[in-house]
Amino acid sequence: MVEPASIVCKRIDKPVIFAKLLFMAGDLEAESSLERAFSWITGPTTPPRLEAAMRHAVFGGGGRVRPRLALAVASACGRGNVDVASAAAASIEFLHCASLVHDDLPCFDDADLRRGRPTVHVEHGEALAVLVGDALIAGAFEVIGRGCESHPGLLGPLLATVARSVGAVRGIVAGQAWESEPTPNLRLYHRAKTGALFEAAVCVGAIAGGGDPGAWLPVGSRLGEAYQVADDILDLVGSASALGKPVGQDARNGRPSAVQELGYERAFGRLQTLCDSMFTCVPAVEGREEFVGWAMNLCRKLFPPAEQCGVQRSNEAFLTA
Ligand code: IPE
Ligand code: IPE
Ligand code: MG
Ligand code: MG
Repeated sequence: MVEPASIVCKRIDKPVIFAKLLFMAGDLEAESSLERAFSWITGPTTPPRLEAAMRHAVFGGGGRVRPRLALAVASACGRGNVDVASAAAASIEFLHCASLVHDDLPCFDDADLRRGRPTVHVEHGEALAVLVGDALIAGAFEVIGRGCESHPGLLGPLLATVARSVGAVRGIVAGQAWESEPTPNLRLYHRAKTGALFEAAVCVGAIAGGGDPGAWLPVGSRLGEAYQVADDILDLVGSASALGKPVGQDARNGRPSAVQELGYERAFGRLQTLCDSMFTCVPAVEGREEFVGWAMNLCRKLFPPAEQCGVQRSNEAFLTA
């Protein structure tokens, strides 16, 4: 078995080597941090069906973009604490998984497929799906508490950052609630329902990595908004088999979307602009080059492949970053 990056990095005190190692092992670290954090928020007295449904929500699929982003920022900052970074990354993914379980419920998007499998409420029932979301939200905060046991000074900033990203001012709750308003503003809606968690991912990464969260915030906002614009485009041109979730949802549910508001061509333009401007915001930290390489790869993947939308819109067209 490959050693988790947290174990390898603890033996290494050179910040730049630390950064490079974590970039190389980011995916592995994201997955192992989730396993560890999951063991903290479940136990022998957890009702077995609830635990099975929680497992369904967290494991067995998912791009892990947000925890990898948090770890990539922590690595780029280079002076941080791996245990805190790893707990913060897991906490962000728990919140994301909770948001997906609730988002798929009949009272929201009423979706039956997620990550290529039946959604949690389809497989485990609506009552448990609501409770899975609740348990993962509560668990996300518990994980931050555990991760900061040896670093109490980081607890306050991490809790405030994560709570803001799910709250009613500009977090996921606000984002989902814009769907109940008669005339939502698209950018506010996107920023809250998706951007907020990307902002939190870069900020917790910066806090754990000893960097400046305020300097990283614009990177998260732009990436998060780009991610949701790309999701809106894929909802139109993608396929359920490739995405592992239903397509055509935005039109079916009457959701505001970048494609509906801007049209297909301008939605692509907006995606490109957001990605380009994200790169200009990356702070001048030790691991900037590695982070830019990592983010470039992520941005390329946001552009649907040529066969879905025409050669001129393929990911090869993404050259300017
Ligand atoms: C889906 O996010 C919801 C959006 C904000 C578009 P992801 O595309 O990151 O979902 P998973 O985690 O990979 O399933
Ligand atoms: C994604 O909303 C954001 C949240 C789940 C909070 P969507 O409804 O657009 O995402 P998908 O397409 O179901 O993944
Ligand atoms: Mg939705
Ligand atoms: Mg949805």
